[in-house]
Formats: sequence, structure tokens, C-alpha cells
Amino acid sequence: MYFNTRDSYGLIARILHWLIFFLVAGMLIGGFSLSYLPSNGLKSFVISIHKSIGFTILLLMIARLLWRLYSPPPRDLGDSLVLNYAAHVLHIVLYILLFLQPLVGILMSQTYGYPVSVFGIFELPQIIWKSPLLANFFSKVHTVIAVLLTVSISIHAAAALKHHYIDRNRILIRMLKG
Ligand code: HEM
Ligand code: HEM
Repeated sequence: MYFNTRDSYGLIARILHWLIFFLVAGMLIGGFSLSYLPSNGLKSFVISIHKSIGFTILLLMIARLLWRLYSPPPRDLGDSLVLNYAAHVLHIVLYILLFLQPLVGILMSQTYGYPVSVFGIFELPQIIWKSPLLANFFSKVHTVIAVLLTVSISIHAAAALKHHYIDRNRILIRMLKG
């Protein structure tokens, strides 16, 4: 039930997959909306929530990677070797982007000179010095990764829907219901 089997995803992998999906979708929508907010108390509050959830995503991604190593995913179901391979590459890309994005966010905040507090419970240690030049660089990288994430997630989700509605195989179902 909790573990992945040869044919399906277990409860832990499914909860992590969909929880991270909802959080990341919210972060992308919230993040891109930030520029439309006037600089006031509300914007500072939204950024502090953004930073806290972003750090939470990093922790969840570490848990997810460890779980994947402990309980390997099920066998491929797609008919095409090339597309199966492409799907694996895209999964690796998604992992890389979701590790990089929170790290770059933390580096950006700290180089801007702002601390990163996680839900007001604790503050992350300073891992880099204040530098407006570097902050500007990390800010650009944060935007580029956000765009790459949006594109990769869209391709990944479109492929999942194609498997379900066109190929009519169990790929989406085994990630939804196991
Ligand atoms: C998966 C995690 C994350 C995602 C998907 C994400 C996404 C985004 C997006 C889409 C933007 C708007 C970019 C733009 O308009 O150019 C943004 C801005 C921002 N993000 Fe993140 N972010 C994540 C994690 C973090 C973390 C962990 C931090 C800091 C601890 C952070 C700090 C910020 C800040 C300070 C801004 C505003 C930048 C500015 O106004 O110049 N983000 N984020
Ligand atoms: C933030 C958004 C998403 C990310 C980062 C993501 C990431 C991943 C990753 C890394 C895997 C490989 C298994 C694992 O290591 O957990 C996977 C599998 C899967 N994802 Fe997503 N996913 C996202 C959104 C979606 C959406 C929106 C859908 C459906 C519309 C979807 C459908 C699936 C399916 C069906 C599988 C299983 C593929 C297979 O069995 O070969 N994912 N996802």
C-alpha cells in the first residue's frame, strides 16, 4: 500500500507527487503575480509565505528523492522506447529544477540582504554575503527556472493526459489511485 510495486505507485509516492504539484502550481501563480502587487505590507507578507513554502518544497523534494531511491518506481507502460526514455529525462529535469529553484530563491533573498524565515518559526543560516550584483543575477535565474518549470510541467501533464485519453493505458490512474 505504502510502497511502489512493479505495476503501480504506492501511497507515499502519490501523496508526495500531488502535494508538490499543488504547492508548485501555487508558487508559480503566486510568484508571477508578485510583480502586480504594489510594494506594501501585503506584498511583504505574500513574499514571506512564498519563501516559507519554497523551503518546504525543497524539504519535500529531498524526502521524495530518498523515497524514490528506497522504493523504485513501477515499470514503464508506454509502447515507445523513445518516448519512455524522453519521459525519464523529463522526470530528471523536473527533479533538478525543483531542487535548484528553492536554492536560488534562498541565495537571491540573502544576497538582497533579506533573511529567510520559515513560517516565522526559524531562520535559515546565512550561506552567502549581501551583494546587489549577485542578487540581480539570482533574480534572473529564478525567473528563467520558473519559466522552464512551467514549460516542463505543461509537457509532462499533457503527456499524462494523452496516455489517459488517447492511449487509454493505466499511467495516469496508477499515479492517481495506485
Ligand atoms: C519551487 C519553489 C519556487 C518557485 C516555483 C518559485 C517561483 C517564483 C516565481 C514564478 C517568481 C516570480 C518571478 C518573476 O516575476 O520574475 C518568484 C519570485 C520570488 N521568489 Fe520564488 N519560487 C520558489 C522558491 C523560492 C524560495 C525558496 C525563495 C526564498 C527563500 C523565493 C524567493 C522569491 C522572491 C524574493 C521573489 C521576488 C523577486 C523579486 O521581486 O525580485 N522563491 N518565485
Ligand atoms: C509540479 C508539477 C509536477 C511535477 C514536478 C511532476 C513530477 C513527476 C515526476 C518526477 C514523476 C516520476 C515519478 C516520481 O519520481 O515521483 C512523475 C510521474 C507522473 N506524473 Fe507528474 N509531476 C507534476 C505534475 C503532474 C500533473 C499535472 C500530472 C497529470 C496531469 C502528472 C502526471 C504524472 C503521471 C501520470 C506520472 C507517472 C508516470 C509513469 O508512471 O510513467 N504530473 N511526475
